[in-house]
Amino acid sequence: MWVVTIDGPAGAGKSTVARRLAERLGWQLLDTGAMYRAVAYAGIRAEIDLEDESAWGDLVLRLIVELPPGRVVLDGEDVTAVIRSVEVTRSTRHAADSPSVRKRLVDCQRAFAKDVRNVVTEGRDQGTIVFPDAFRKFFLTATDEERARRRHDEFTARGETIAYDSVLSDLKDRDARDEARAIAPMRPAPDAKVIDSTGIDLDVLVASIEADVRHALLETTGRVAH
Ligand code: DC
Repeated sequence: MWVVTIDGPAGAGKSTVARRLAERLGWQLLDTGAMYRAVAYAGIRAEIDLEDESAWGDLVLRLIVELPPGRVVLDGEDVTAVIRSVEVTRSTRHAADSPSVRKRLVDCQRAFAKDVRNVVTEGRDQGTIVFPDAFRKFFLTATDEERARRRHDEFTARGETIAYDSVLSDLKDRDARDEARAIAPMRPAPDAKVIDSTGIDLDVLVASIEADVRHALLETTGRVAH
């Protein structure tokens, strides 16, 4: 089993880099943020008290989240688009702060990797908690302003109107919470390569990460990844 982890804050380029890297290596992609978003959406839909840990515990045991390539399916319903809305983005912290949700999703993430064998996984805690023995680990960052600009462009492309300043303050708020969380706080693993993607063309970044992974694979196995 080969696992490459890509962690980092919102808007640092993780999703794009992880998706393209997985395509280029011919490996599976695991978007763990999408899993937390899907659970948050389920919580909103079920109208649970988002501050109630036991409600999250009950809910998460009953859910089935599937990740077919490029899609997120919750209990048979395609939720790929709706989980990217401003509302779900704002509420996801409640799901991400819940120990029951985290435990269940971490189990699912490990099972996914075991099943598919070769995986590029992205999130906040992939290199630290979920896959501490991952083959290669990367932690992407970028300035707050660049990350907020990328997120603002994404919302605009989806047809959602939200002020840039509001995206920036939401993003800073989320970073602070993700970093301060008691379980699985967002931070680079000691053996992660930290990369600042500010002003870097993401295609160039993907190519350099791919070269790094292929080089490491060659050193380890003597074989080039197919
Ligand atoms: O990467 P993203 O924006 O899709 O993540 C959505 C939220 O889920 C974000 O608030 C951080 C949280 N998250 C997490 O706590 N742990 C992960 N492994 C992935 C995401």
